[in-house]
Amino acid sequence: MMPDCQDRISIQPTPALRVRESITDRSMAPAIFQQKLLAWFDKCGRKDLPWQHPITPYRVWLSEVMLQQTQVSTVIPYFLAFVDNFPDIESLAQADLDDVLRLWSGLGYYARARNLHKAAKIICETKRFPDSLEELAVLPGIGRSTAGAILCIAFNKSHPILDGNVKRVICRFHAVSGWPGNNAVNKNLWSLSAAYTPIERVADFTQAMMDLGATVCLRSSPACEQCPLIEGCTAYSEGIIKNLPTPKPAKALPVKQQVFMILQNRQGQVLLEKRPPTGIWGGLWSFPEFSTVEEAFIWCELRNMNIKAHKSGAVQRHTFSHYHLDFTPLMIHIDCENYSIMEGERGLWCDGTQINKLGLPAPVKQLCKQLLKEDKHDPIN
Ligand code: ADE
Repeated sequence: MMPDCQDRISIQPTPALRVRESITDRSMAPAIFQQKLLAWFDKCGRKDLPWQHPITPYRVWLSEVMLQQTQVSTVIPYFLAFVDNFPDIESLAQADLDDVLRLWSGLGYYARARNLHKAAKIICETKRFPDSLEELAVLPGIGRSTAGAILCIAFNKSHPILDGNVKRVICRFHAVSGWPGNNAVNKNLWSLSAAYTPIERVADFTQAMMDLGATVCLRSSPACEQCPLIEGCTAYSEGIIKNLPTPKPAKALPVKQQVFMILQNRQGQVLLEKRPPTGIWGGLWSFPEFSTVEEAFIWCELRNMNIKAHKSGAVQRHTFSHYHLDFTPLMIHIDCENYSIMEGERGLWCDGTQINKLGLPAPVKQLCKQLLKEDKHDPIN
């Protein structure tokens, strides 16, 4: 049974209970917040995540980047495969970007992988893993919250964090209304996060905040009766948990239409092209894309391809953070084994085995999988 936190604090505050700033709108003193949360963490927190054994700056950095906008269960197999291939920062810095992207394939937000690779090279040049907010925040792909998490977890240095889970916990605890993406709301959340962050046991505290958001203070159907902070939670006492955090103001995402040309040769190989290094799916392999079906046929005609059969598939939607991509798969079978790839083109005829070795965006991999399965060609993982 936990000691009564209120009593203990009034008698003898422990170092873990020191507070950086005071909170004016306080529903629970930060010292008590920390104590309750850490006691919950000791019992219920996640202590067996792969990046926690062993904890090194490289593994913490890698996991925090993979966990940006991505759930733990999704990240685990990617993290394991990644550290298997690149066990340390030197091996990552020396790797080919293609190999890094292949291991990231399916995890999404590929700029994270490109930035990770860039940052690894920068860190290796300096021969020392950065351990201050200023040094971390200038590295590509490391924002203030990721830097804070790395400093707390890898170096035991006290810094606030504000990822999606922590935003949700604080928004509800203090009944902060307004979309957290709004500057003023975000600023308020950062100062609340800073006020609650202890000086001691910062690694556990930071992990506890993320765990509470991910396992108890859930977006829908939160398990409030299991929450160690229930007594001080304003949204709970006011019955407005479901309304917080305030959702992003609805704005229809624009829709982009594309034709994905799935060109198959006589051997059943599919033509893939490497995308330019920046932008959506930068550096990944995808189908040649066109604005219309007609453009795709003209492309084939210009290369003297003899089209045996073609078929348009149903339109499918892939949603990015800032637009919907509605793509039409256009299957074209050509009656030859090859064609001459024009200068400047980066095409590659691939069978299942080769596809498994390339970095492909998830919807492209899915289409290849379907296609090669139907054709009874090599299966793809
Ligand atoms: N999300 C971001 N960082 C995390 C971490 N260290 N553990 C669990 N979820 C997280």
